[in-house]
Amino acid sequence: MMSTAPELKSPRRPVSHSTLGRAQRWSWIFQRVSGVILIVLIFTHLFVNLWSGDGINQIDFAFVAGKLANPFWQWFDFLMLTLAMIHGANGMRMIIEDYAHTPWLKATLHWALRISTVVIIVLGTLVLFTFDPCPADAPASLLPSLCEDI
Ligand code: HEM
Repeated sequence: MMSTAPELKSPRRPVSHSTLGRAQRWSWIFQRVSGVILIVLIFTHLFVNLWSGDGINQIDFAFVAGKLANPFWQWFDFLMLTLAMIHGANGMRMIIEDYAHTPWLKATLHWALRISTVVIIVLGTLVLFTFDPCPADAPASLLPSLCEDI
């Protein structure tokens, strides 16, 4: 049996200053600005990890540990993590608004989205800023060269 996609309520509201509230307008601007910044961050991320040096073959514990020992990459990754998560969650919020019509479903989906977004940002940030590049009991051959001085 063929199933059809759910209908969007029509007419959808046009994007104009008179119909968008202040928060809605900022959310609309944020999606565009963060989208452009994310393109730069993600292509830099892919270039550094997949193209430069030995490409994908260079990715091991030492490579990641070496990057996360550098404040530049810690803050770069933090910016990419938070922008990607907030951009994605804001997009999902709009999809929920468009498609979930019963109040309990809307509330459940919005809370699931809020909680998962916060959990991922907190865990991702903890990894970036508490990562130990030189664990005491690891074999020296797996560690980055910066551990030799310790
Ligand atoms: C084949 C493609 C990809 C590869 C091989 C890859 C590889 C990696 C590696 C090795 C790391 C560890 C730290 C670092 O290198 O900075 C990392 C972290 C990260 N990647 Fe990617 N990545 C890929 C695609 C993406 C894409 C498309 C995104 C989109 C946003 C992304 C977002 C992130 C974020 C946010 C982190 C930091 C995670 C954290 O520890 O909190 N990556 N990636």
